[in-house]
Amino acid sequence: MTFDIDRVRAAYPALSDGYAYLDGAAGTQAPTAVIEAIADAYRSGIGNVGGAFPASERSGSIVSECRQALADLTGGHPDGVILGPNMTTLTYRLADTLSRHWGPGDEVVVSRLDHDANIRPWVQAAGRRGATVRWAEVDIATTELPPAQYGDLLSERTRLVAVTAASNVVGTRPDVAAIAAAAHAAGALVYVDGVHATPHVPVDVGALGADFYATSAYKWSGPHIGTVVAQPALLETLRPDKLAPAPADGPGRFERGTAAFADLAGVAAAVEHLASLAPAAGRRRQRVVASMAAVEEYEMRLFAGLLDGLAAMEHVTLYGKAARRAPTAFFTVAGHSPRKVAEKLAARQVNVWNGDNYAWELAGVLGLRDSGGAVRAGLVHYNDQADVDRLLTAVAELA
Ligand SMILES: Cc1ncc(COP(=O)(O)O)c(C=O)c1O
Repeated sequence: MTFDIDRVRAAYPALSDGYAYLDGAAGTQAPTAVIEAIADAYRSGIGNVGGAFPASERSGSIVSECRQALADLTGGHPDGVILGPNMTTLTYRLADTLSRHWGPGDEVVVSRLDHDANIRPWVQAAGRRGATVRWAEVDIATTELPPAQYGDLLSERTRLVAVTAASNVVGTRPDVAAIAAAAHAAGALVYVDGVHATPHVPVDVGALGADFYATSAYKWSGPHIGTVVAQPALLETLRPDKLAPAPADGPGRFERGTAAFADLAGVAAAVEHLASLAPAAGRRRQRVVASMAAVEEYEMRLFAGLLDGLAAMEHVTLYGKAARRAPTAFFTVAGHSPRKVAEKLAARQVNVWNGDNYAWELAGVLGLRDSGGAVRAGLVHYNDQADVDRLLTAVAELA
């Protein structure tokens, strides 16, 4: 499928500032359509929801359209879309709710591949309830999360398995469907962190076997909004803390206080933007799946050159060797701390991240936690060969 990178880049005003934005894994830039959708919401007048006047109705429509857009993006149902400020906040909220009925003897399984936002909320909730935490380990040689180990980790005592769809540092995309199938066979729920996977691949929560799928719009060209997509029927079985007059059913029960309505308009525009990155026909769900398949192909081609370039440099140590991965490189440079590398690259107008990037357990496994982590250079759909070349040139100069 064709991927017109010049057209894609032209959609992003921020990209004209001369920087190579290889920091997308920490947050992407916003296209004009998203900026305009947010501005339009304010221009048109918005009110709080539930009122008798048009500005209030507009906010109500924005919320419904946002839920539908996120359902289209993930293959979920709009009535199962919980909206909130970010993934971490929503995951703490769900950990609090889901752990209500855990007790001594119950178990949760987390993985050392995950961002801490899909580890600590579960570990802390289990701690409060006296439940046991079991750890799925990363194979250091391959940076894979072998699904076979879940056979030993799971039992009829397992209440929940939390696992990422992609590592935000080494890029590993574990076999979530196999892990979820094993978890379901044991009677456990599956909470999938889709924050790093969603910008890079088509998502189908049903095929993944995700009972809960979390993602954050600011990682895929949208505003700073998070969501968790679940089966509506499953949500109805849960009783989160909520204010007495707040909604008694549906995803609204999990959403506290007044929503960021204008930003939610931006989320729907971001999904539409993802659906339009490559030419595709049909309803938005079909278009977004086809478009994200083209994104995956484009990004992985670009990433192969980035990895080859870094691998050829003797002063660079690369982490991340998984067979299936997101286009995210994690590396150290001999003689320079990760922070120094990031600073030197910034002076060349190349944006990269340094540190553990909150993949705190994995940084420990890789022996990087106490040495400043590593450098992360991640591709998203608006990066091009020039960005990759500038990174490679700047890193080569550090030899
Ligand atoms: C894989 C992954 N999970 C979770 C998070 C936390 O997301 P949020 O900032 O929306 O809380 C991040 C953020 O970097 C991430 O990369």
